[in-house]
Amino acid sequence: MKWALLIGALCLAGCNKPESTYARNSDVKAGDIKSGYAFLQDDTKALQDDDFANPGFLWVDRGKRLFETAETGASTCSTCHGAHGMPLKGVAAHYPKVDAKTGKLLNLEAAINLCREQHQGLEPLAYESDDLLGMTAYVASLSRGEPVSVDITGPAAKYYEEGRDYFFRRKGQFNLACSQCHNEHWGEKLRGDTISQGHGNAFPAYRLEWQDFGSLHRRLRDCDTGIRAEPQDYGSETYMAVELYLAKRAEGLAMESPGVRR
Ligand code: HEC
Ligand code: HEC
Repeated sequence: MKWALLIGALCLAGCNKPESTYARNSDVKAGDIKSGYAFLQDDTKALQDDDFANPGFLWVDRGKRLFETAETGASTCSTCHGAHGMPLKGVAAHYPKVDAKTGKLLNLEAAINLCREQHQGLEPLAYESDDLLGMTAYVASLSRGEPVSVDITGPAAKYYEEGRDYFFRRKGQFNLACSQCHNEHWGEKLRGDTISQGHGNAFPAYRLEWQDFGSLHRRLRDCDTGIRAEPQDYGSETYMAVELYLAKRAEGLAMESPGVRR
């Protein structure tokens, strides 16, 4: 596991401290919030900035095509969400969001799948399939530049607390919490990476290490695996809750999907 050595170094600084020495409120200070983009090398930034070179646009284009194409017996997404329907511009910046009917927390992937089931009579798309990633990337791209802003009141409050709790909980063989890297050590080097503040505003994103496009949940699974903790399932309620906590924590940052990351 390639993080092991470096995590060892982080642990010297932190792992043996009793839990109580970590302030649960050690959030990144409001004026200090930076997108992961700020920590990238110039060539990676350039790749994200150029819509023709950014490989993420292969997925955006795929999603746009699907959005405008009818599957057997169903109306297209664009029938309802086209220029004369309920345009989806800006909506992705407000996800995850609680579904008023069921009270369940939905991220963008889940909202798209719900629409397929309820309004198109179609089966949900598999999490992490190129079709769902493409559709999510297309809808997210309609919010590029919009500031992240989510509702954590009312029925969303318990999910926010659950996500926050996960973020500060130590776990895995290295007994590390998300907060120890992304609140307390951002800006420091971890192998070839510079640890960022761990915001989700660029996802779904193309990762050079994956040679592939992936969801935020795939990124979270990598972080959990990196500390040798059991990763949560794709689309699990826990990762949805973490996604809500991350979005609130990133409030005001511009939406970047399709981002490019190392
Ligand atoms: C051992 C340190 C470490 C821990 C613990 C850790 N991460 Fe990460 N994380 C990284 C590194 C390194 C990266 C890649 C560079 C970067 O963007 O920070 C990363 C990337 C991310 C990103 C993508 C940021 C971007 O802009 O691309 C998110 C989101 C994230 N982590 C969230 C989490 C969450 C949530 C947890 C807890 C479940 C967690 N991380 C635990 C080290 C860590
Ligand atoms: C028959 C009309 C119809 C079709 C077809 C349809 N939707 Fe929807 N969609 C709706 C309605 C109505 C809502 C508002 C929420 C609700 O009542 O379910 C909605 C809500 C949404 C939302 C959440 C918007 C918000 O403001 O939070 C997204 C995202 C979405 N749809 C994406 C899609 C995608 C992608 C497709 C194609 C896979 C699609 N929809 C197909 C009618 C439709």
